[in-house]
Amino acid sequence: MKIDVLTLFPTMFTGVFNESILKRAQEKGAVTFQLVNFREFADNKHQTVDDYPYGGGAGMVLKPQPIFDAVDHLTKQSDHRPRIILLCPQGERYTQKKAEELAKEQHIIFICGHYEGYDERIREHLVTDEISIGDYVLTGGELAAMVVIDSVVRLLPGVLGNEHSPVHDSYSSGLLEHPHYTRPADFRGMKVPDVLLSGNHRLIEEWRQKQSLRRTWLRRPDLLETYELTEQQKKWIEQ
Ligand code: ADE
Repeated sequence: MKIDVLTLFPTMFTGVFNESILKRAQEKGAVTFQLVNFREFADNKHQTVDDYPYGGGAGMVLKPQPIFDAVDHLTKQSDHRPRIILLCPQGERYTQKKAEELAKEQHIIFICGHYEGYDERIREHLVTDEISIGDYVLTGGELAAMVVIDSVVRLLPGVLGNEHSPVHDSYSSGLLEHPHYTRPADFRGMKVPDVLLSGNHRLIEEWRQKQSLRRTWLRRPDLLETYELTEQQKKWIEQ
């Protein structure tokens, strides 16, 4: 997968891209990142990328020209038609399902604004998706782009070893994950549930599935509205 990020603050990404799983994903050849400062595409003498809003009012608006030209440049380099994603609080709320959908793409371009709004023609005629990572307002799209990139890249084939398989992730199954414990079995009098020490794999799996259901019911009952319970899960709930 090829990921291009249009931003006025490329250095915000360098730590995130050069550590841990995202670093390993590049080393394994699963992803390549390109950071593009779209100020370099501004066609005016002072390289301004924003301007006052028509109709007046506070704040500045990102001009269409530098962003359209930067995207044209990146699209020409590409053999695949890219997904072009705008990060903004008005976008569709981001979910694991969307991460799984994006993980199938060959080329994604992220557009990050900072402080300002975007000229509406960018939304209407350039982008394929508008994404919000939650109902709060960030100072810019950069942190949101990092969240989306992190959640997509970890799903690419070969990026996580089997030991971290994304199959059991919270959300990918539709339920939250069961609790985890490691040694010691007794820490300051706080004990690990006996069943996990029993060696009985069938009972352990059943305990985990029940805990997963219980945790979802207690913390995120909204997830159960769209989740299809198995016959076994229905029985556990009735018990
Ligand atoms: N830019 C500012 N706030 C944002 C949010 N919540 N999600 C995505 N991009 C944003």
